Amino acid sequence: QKKAKYGEDLLEWYFHIQRNLPWRENHDPYRIWVSEIMLQQTRVDTVIPYFLSFIEKFPTIQHLAEAPEEEVLKSWEGLGYYSRARNLQAGAKMVMEQHQGQVPTTKEEVAALKGVGPYTCGAIMSIAYNEPVPAVDGNVMRVISRFFALEDDIAKPSTRVKLEKLVETMIPEGQARYFNQALMELGALICTPKSPSCLLCPVMDNCEARLQGREHELPLKSKA
Ligand code: ADE
Repeated sequence: QKKAKYGEDLLEWYFHIQRNLPWRENHDPYRIWVSEIMLQQTRVDTVIPYFLSFIEKFPTIQHLAEAPEEEVLKSWEGLGYYSRARNLQAGAKMVMEQHQGQVPTTKEEVAALKGVGPYTCGAIMSIAYNEPVPAVDGNVMRVISRFFALEDDIAKPSTRVKLEKLVETMIPEGQARYFNQALMELGALICTPKSPSCLLCPVMDNCEARLQGREHELPLKSKA
């Protein structure tokens, strides 16, 4: 049915076009964690050099946990939203104290780390461990709202919860890490907020917003 076809088409596209990004070289959970925190409010192209130098300076969770805070903040200079850096280091300390220096492997334990919200938790569980957990950020909400022509206000917390449940049912068996990154990639490269490149979209034939000519109207977002 529609969801299964969506997964197949999206994965085939992703395996062709995916970008070589430094946090995609392996599935190391520490690297995934750092990259997802940096990517929360910052564009991919900006993040790349910061990610590489951060990992060089703090190659392991232990290095990060034991570093002076000002070193960590210095490595963040220019990225902004410095609470992300402080939380990341606080999370690293939690991992040292509570998890023997290894990023924990359950959703509950990962979600309990400082600075890790539902999106980042889903990204770590799926990308690092390939667990079938959704990772729904603003980009993914837009992509999914358009595909099903959903009228829900994406500014409402209940919409995120609804979309998380929906995405969870769409993850193709054994492909969580690629499916979630494919959704992010689609949102970043094709299904963009202002002028989506529908003609290049791997799922354009089944996209309800496109079929209804409403891709520019969706998703709905209230100004709260
Ligand atoms: N944005 C957030 N996470 C990402 C990822 N893993 N790859 C590309 N863009 C992203």
